[in-house]
Amino acid sequence: MSKTYTHSKSGSTIAIHPYGATLTSYQTKNTEHLFVSDLAKLDGSKPIRGGVPLVFPIFGPPPAGSTMPQHGFARRNTWEFVASTDDEDAAKVTYQLELANVKEGLGDEEWKSGTYNCKLLYAVEFSDASLSTTLTMQNTGDVAFPVQALLHTYYKIHDAKALDGNLCYVKGLKGYTNTDKVTKETPYVWTNDTITISNETDRVYSSDTVDAVKVEIGVGNGSVVQLSAKGTVDGIVVPVSCVVWNPHVDKAAGMSDFGNNQYHEMLCVEPGILGQHTLAPGKEATLTQVVVPP
Ligand code: BG6
Repeated sequence: MSKTYTHSKSGSTIAIHPYGATLTSYQTKNTEHLFVSDLAKLDGSKPIRGGVPLVFPIFGPPPAGSTMPQHGFARRNTWEFVASTDDEDAAKVTYQLELANVKEGLGDEEWKSGTYNCKLLYAVEFSDASLSTTLTMQNTGDVAFPVQALLHTYYKIHDAKALDGNLCYVKGLKGYTNTDKVTKETPYVWTNDTITISNETDRVYSSDTVDAVKVEIGVGNGSVVQLSAKGTVDGIVVPVSCVVWNPHVDKAAGMSDFGNNQYHEMLCVEPGILGQHTLAPGKEATLTQVVVPP
């Protein structure tokens, strides 16, 4: 079951499910900003379909020869609550996952055998002014490991307007390289101001030169969410990519934990550290997004 936390001063709330430390709700002024599928499994039998699943240590399907599950193990295990505070400016909740408590999805031998070791911390800070989610990944072992991470954020698109390009869009990725996982065409520089949804959309926008992602998201009812994100590996700022995903008709029909028509009600905008990075022993990587609601 998700646990609800309140910021007393503003009355805004979040809910976190310990399975995957999945943020399943963020509400300000009685408005929900996150989408969770009607058919999401909340019993630990599957990663939660909605909210903000945490992707670590790989994004997407495993590389050749690896048996790591898609998007890694962070979203498939039960995290421990660490602490919560409720201050004037914001409330803050922290969860953690140590490798010793990872039961599902370790995949590769280096993780299973303890050659690699890690501790994950997840801090969610919120008020009615913003939501900030930070994933901190620590290498607690003696061997460096490859690291990718992503905050797989499902935005609620109000009034089921995800396919209305005037009301639902992502702006701010002009100049990024678009790797389109649906058309599979050669990656190319995105020259439009705006991304809208008219068919299955699964694209990774990346840049070698811009470190922090900054986009605005039209959420269906004329209002706009501002998103910014940044990442570090061993204290060094690294470029953050941004995935834009909507399954549309066919893919929605093929997902057992997603309603056939619910692609009208959501849009995933997912900042991530997706380059080739290695985390050395004793070092940490961080990925932070800040969401400013309408
Ligand atoms: C997105 C990927 O981040 O997540 C898509 O780019 C994928 O390719 C989607 O389909 C959902 O993944 P999953 O594993 O939660 O079904």
